Amino acid sequence: MKPFLLYFPQRGDERGWLVVAESNKDVPFDIKRIFYIYGTEPEAVRGQHANRNSEFVLVNVAGSCKVLTRDGKGDDTVFELNKPNMGLYIPKMVWKDMYDFSSDSILLCISSEAYDPNEYIRSYEAFAEEVNGD
Ligand code: TYD
Repeated sequence: MKPFLLYFPQRGDERGWLVVAESNKDVPFDIKRIFYIYGTEPEAVRGQHANRNSEFVLVNVAGSCKVLTRDGKGDDTVFELNKPNMGLYIPKMVWKDMYDFSSDSILLCISSEAYDPNEYIRSYEAFAEEVNGD
């Protein structure tokens, strides 16, 4: 499967907006973990890893950032996340770099797995070797 953008329904009334993310409904997996990234230096690049088991939906709930996804076989795609109802689904075994964070960016990361540092691949070369079966 490839990364893809998804759009959460926006529930609006005279008070403003609300977005809901429920497991296996708005997000295509069982949600086990959320974390968020904020106060990011403009030149910083986060991520820079692939996950053997975790799937993610990333939502820039405030501000904007860019995400480069790489499948290790030459499919490199850049997504700009700049709306609070826009999510980027990232399957397991996809390399990701997050960058160009606006100063007000809050990047919400919703994951299918609890944190396990052992399922992270932090070398792009090692990741590419693994997906290409070298
Ligand atoms: P890191 O993996 O560098 O964040 P990202 O790749 O998303 O930019 O994580 C930064 C620190 O936070 C690192 O010490 C590990 C810790 N951490 C957890 O303890 N649990 C988590 O779920 C995550 C994502 C990070």
